[in-house]
Amino acid sequence: MLITGVSGYLGSRLATRAVRAGWSVVGTVHGGECSIDGVRVERIDLVDRAAAVALLERVRPDAVVHTATGRDRGDWAAVADATGTVAVASAAVGARLVHVSSDAVLSGRQPPYDESALPDPVYRYGAGKAAAETVVKAVAPDAAIVRVPLIVGTDGDSKYERMTPALIAGQPGALFVDAYRSPIHVADLSDALLELATAGTPAGEHAGVLNVAGPDTVSFHRLGELIARRQGLDPALVPAARAGELDVVIPRDNRLDSTLARKLLTTRLRGAPEFLA
Ligand SMILES: NC(=O)c1ccc[n+]([C@@H]2O[C@H](COP(=O)([O-])OP(=O)(O)OC[C@H]3O[C@@H](n4cnc5c(N)ncnc54)[C@H](OP(=O)(O)O)[C@@H]3O)[C@@H](O)[C@H]2O)c1
Repeated sequence: MLITGVSGYLGSRLATRAVRAGWSVVGTVHGGECSIDGVRVERIDLVDRAAAVALLERVRPDAVVHTATGRDRGDWAAVADATGTVAVASAAVGARLVHVSSDAVLSGRQPPYDESALPDPVYRYGAGKAAAETVVKAVAPDAAIVRVPLIVGTDGDSKYERMTPALIAGQPGALFVDAYRSPIHVADLSDALLELATAGTPAGEHAGVLNVAGPDTVSFHRLGELIARRQGLDPALVPAARAGELDVVIPRDNRLDSTLARKLLTTRLRGAPEFLA
């Protein structure tokens, strides 16, 4: 298995679980570092098509899970163009491609969203991820395109696990009470991606968009309260704000309907109230 972005939050957890599940793993990094037992690391800029094609020809993986995206979410080349490169290189060697997309492709105006929802992004990152989905569909029509909500863990390392205690400690900012998501645990998502990469399983045959999300929809502020309680902090101290009263561009309600994933996967997808309890 080739995993792009093993220096990233999802990629590093996925690589660890892939090794544990028995996969032989090659992982890519760009500017960062990765040291995971059993993972052979390759440094590459995935925007460089010749380098990506050469890497895939050398590695000849059965499956490619593309988690890499621009560290700067507005970096169009790293978000969109690099995905085109990965799709072309995967197709050239006949590898199963599992592409990690985002609920950011959606505007939040017509929830809930099932897999038939077409992208209608409202900001640059969502537009880049939407372009990435389109290029994957065109180049690798058999690929799985996994739409993912906020990814949270319980080891303290995800964005909102780090942000919540910082906000409580007085860092400027607040969490929206009127913007909603269906968060997923990073371990559940990783296991779902491994299933989707595995040939000979129903999930391994899935082509096109698949929502892999938690069953519970919460506001960003409610998520912060759950994280605070789990970290032994006072949930009442999580600062709140209303997106509707501020001049911000954010999809307000990107709840994902993951009914299809629940039928297809053996991995149980837990909701935030459960995994943060
Ligand atoms: N985090 C979330 O809550 C969330 C929500 C929805 C969807 N997603 C999607 O889930 C995936 C993983 O997100 P994440 O938050 O785990 O990502 P992340 O921690 O920001 O890591 C991004 C990864 O992409 C790599 N990368 C960036 N530019 C690159 C380039 N030009 N060439 C090669 N590699 C490059 C980085 O490598 P270096 O660090 O080595 O430079 C890093 O490994 C992404 O596709 C993201 O869109 C994430």
